[in-house]
Amino acid sequence: LATGARNRALPVPGGDHPDLLELRSLDHALAVRDRLGSAGSIAIVGGGYIGLEIAATARGRGLEVTVVEAMDRLMPRTASPALSAHVEKVHRGHGVGLRLGEGVARIATDGDGRIAGVETTAGDLIAAELVLVGIGILPNDELAAAAGLETDNGIVVDSCLRTADPSIFALGDCAAFPAPDFGGGALPGRIRLESVQNAVDQAKCVARNILAEPAPYHEVPWFWSDQFDMKIQIAGLTAGSDRQIARLDEEKGRLTVYCFRDGRLAGVETVSNPGDHMACRRLMAERLSPEPAEVEAAGFSLKTWLQAMRG
Ligand code: APR
Repeated sequence: LATGARNRALPVPGGDHPDLLELRSLDHALAVRDRLGSAGSIAIVGGGYIGLEIAATARGRGLEVTVVEAMDRLMPRTASPALSAHVEKVHRGHGVGLRLGEGVARIATDGDGRIAGVETTAGDLIAAELVLVGIGILPNDELAAAAGLETDNGIVVDSCLRTADPSIFALGDCAAFPAPDFGGGALPGRIRLESVQNAVDQAKCVARNILAEPAPYHEVPWFWSDQFDMKIQIAGLTAGSDRQIARLDEEKGRLTVYCFRDGRLAGVETVSNPGDHMACRRLMAERLSPEPAEVEAAGFSLKTWLQAMRG
């Protein structure tokens, strides 16, 4: 089962307006491109991956852009506070309006029923010609449930991505699997990962399990997002990290955030620093971890550390 996911609908009055924009399919993307070309302003609900990528694109095309994010920082689901703060600064620097810690109370319409903007939970009207909703996804696990398989925020599978029925596997956005120890210890419970890398690597793992011997899934996750001139890359799982060491090169606009859990590197977030990103992926694949004190030392370089470890 590789049934994927669908966009969450906005549960407020007007949340089902047919002119609301979203992004998941090719048709959505074409509609967004088309509408951005002929509008002067857009309000974006959700300051996650989709919301911020569209915000940067729309701003680049000269639209007035406002992002409404319910939590008190950007990309709260996946980013450390240090990365959120950097992303916020860059977006504000490009003139993106940000309303953090505010939800949307309703989609505002004009006398003809056309979209006129959004009203925030604080009662403010943000006037905009276009409104795009990017508030996360829901796994498509109904088919599995109808087949009598266990679902719990996704289709429940074991470490080899097999459901309780030995002839049925699930993978990708819709699969809830026990996370291996990618670094920083295994996360409790099951996780779902929403990324191209995860879908592709899990497909290979399922093929191996069908054709050969049981092979647990253990690929180190990685994610990316391009916003303005930032190339944001994340290796590992930084959620639940208990110590973060951030290195910012303000001039070059480069950031690296080392995220530790229980004294081990659980993930690394980088902005426009692909060398560190690749080094981290290699290091985590070998389940290696520098000590927090090593990372804190002046002049620390992940690449050099990795070379030294390999002798
Ligand atoms: N009002 C404002 N913000 C909201 C609301 C709301 N009612 N509900 C949720 N949010 C915010 C969340 O706090 C979160 O920051 O919307 C954001 C959604 O961000 P993501 O979970 O990253 O989801 P999204 O940006 O929609 O991306 C969907 O596409 O590219 C992929 O990896 C990405 O799988 C993800 C998917």
